[in-house]
Amino acid sequence: MKTRITELLKIKHPIIQGGMAWVADHHLAAAVSNAGGLGIIGAANAPAEVVREEIRKTRELTDKPFGVNVMLLSPSADEVAKVVVEEKVPVVTTGAGNPEKYMEMWKEAGITVIPVIASVAMARRLERTGVDAVIAEGCESGGHIGESTSMTLIPQVADAIEIPVIGAGGVGDGRGMAAMFMLGAEGIQAGTCFLVANETNIHENYKNKVLKAKDIDSVVTGRSHGHPARSLRNNMTRQYVKMENEGAGFEELEYLTLGSLRKAVQDGDTQNGSFMAGQIAGLIHETKSCKEIIEEMENQAEKLLKL
Ligand SMILES: Cc1cc2nc3c(=O)[nH]c(=O)nc-3n(C[C@H](O)[C@H](O)[C@H](O)COP(=O)(O)O)c2cc1C
Repeated sequence: MKTRITELLKIKHPIIQGGMAWVADHHLAAAVSNAGGLGIIGAANAPAEVVREEIRKTRELTDKPFGVNVMLLSPSADEVAKVVVEEKVPVVTTGAGNPEKYMEMWKEAGITVIPVIASVAMARRLERTGVDAVIAEGCESGGHIGESTSMTLIPQVADAIEIPVIGAGGVGDGRGMAAMFMLGAEGIQAGTCFLVANETNIHENYKNKVLKAKDIDSVVTGRSHGHPARSLRNNMTRQYVKMENEGAGFEELEYLTLGSLRKAVQDGDTQNGSFMAGQIAGLIHETKSCKEIIEEMENQAEKLLKL
């Protein structure tokens, strides 16, 4: 499938693996890029030198294009923004905000910049700053989310801007990918289905939780303080929801989730971990290689789009 996204990113398949905090390391990013998609290292809150190391390790494993997801709320965001320039990273995606202040530096360095957005207004605003494409992410997705669903957000964003749109949120196979294309996307970004890839280095309890999840097993926490995030229901989310309903303050809730994603990813702590995943987890029943995930998704989408 050739689209403006495969041309822009110089990749074979218009499939991007979302930058996932604590999950998307050099192993996963390189495996996805070697399979012809775009692998992305999730910088999250990591110190800049750790990100530099991840970039270098990715380069040892692949000579294909890859990206770094810069989390704009990270205390190291300014340093990470410089590291991606110094290390000549070809693609940067951004999460949690507006990357405007880095645009001049990144564009001068020839970096392709693709922010994740959750509204038409943000897509319009960032198009004016010179970004190359946007990832429009619906609230079906795992991790931090906006308000609109993929079904409603993507066609409205596609109508509002000229640059290409990548659809994210709820893609687990070729049907989801084809649907995104019907809505106006020219590529997709997926996170949840890559959680169970063979090359993803997370605790097996995390993978098992995704594999066993049913359609209604995810829950959104954090709406009360304006930072909603979707993860799989467990003891931690139940306690969080209870405290939210009782009117707990931001700091109290933050304390409950301190380090909880790490607890899920590294320790497999099913009680206290935050197992971020999207609603599409209910469709994911088997572990596969990144190559299988990508090729099966694209083949199925291509057939459906030709019908
Ligand atoms: C465990 C996890 C961590 C994530 N961390 C980030 C992140 O640090 N930055 C970001 O921009 N998106 C993050 N996301 C969102 C993904 O990059 C991707 O856009 C999303 O998972 C797509 O929707 P899906 O989960 O339905 O596939 C995360 C998602 C998951 C599941």
